[in-house]
Amino acid sequence: MILVAAGSGVRLGAGMPKAFAPLCGEPLLVHALRGVFGCGEVGHVVIVAPSSHVHQSRDIAGQDPRVDVVAGGVDRSASVVAGLAALHDDDGIVLVHDVARALAPAELFARVIRAVRAGNPAVVPGLAVTDTVKVVDADGRVLATPDRESLRGIQTPQGFLREVLEHAHAGGVSATDDAGLVERTGGQVRVVDGDHRALKVTTPADLAVATALLQDVLYAG
Ligand code: CTP
Ligand code: MG
Repeated sequence: MILVAAGSGVRLGAGMPKAFAPLCGEPLLVHALRGVFGCGEVGHVVIVAPSSHVHQSRDIAGQDPRVDVVAGGVDRSASVVAGLAALHDDDGIVLVHDVARALAPAELFARVIRAVRAGNPAVVPGLAVTDTVKVVDADGRVLATPDRESLRGIQTPQGFLREVLEHAHAGGVSATDDAGLVERTGGQVRVVDGDHRALKVTTPADLAVATALLQDVLYAG
């Protein structure tokens, strides 16, 4: 799998790349790896790290032979492409996961992998949308209000047959969503149930929510 962790975390403002920002005392990258390996079905992880933090990422992964670390690119897509180049020959199913979704639970990884194995070449986790969503133009004029029943908020890990992901990125187009690239190249994408714990840590407020979630888990245990 490809764990994209090369962003700088400007909106979080932690004074370090987001992957290394602490959540309950441990870097987001540590939490993310715990979810990844917790599912027991991921054999190889490529951490795509900021070029300034390749060594630090290697230190976090320790001697684990299942982990490779490579330097990322200028945007998320370039980082995914860097990760693709570091896959092993036998990585047939490839998950792409944002380190920013550091609390994605092991069962979410397992669910996505299971759906790819079941014959879906591209799989994304999605949650029902609770806000009403409107399509607007650049001037803020509302163009449409899609039926909420048909909307999903999409998360990572996203899972792909490797050739499908490679084909999607072959055009060199940038996107924040790998499945979106698959759609643009004519591929079918399937949604499975997402998980609220896979929230994306973008701002300090998100970090506070993640902290509360994690403490809940800790205190419940
Ligand atoms: N990412 C990456 N390489 C980049 C940019 C982003 O690997 N050049 C990764 C981030 O590490 C993150 C995911 O893509 O796991 C989603 O990006 P985002 O949440 O925007 O993280 P940052 O880019 O780090 O945050 P910001 O945009 O606030 O700087
Ligand atoms: Mg970003």
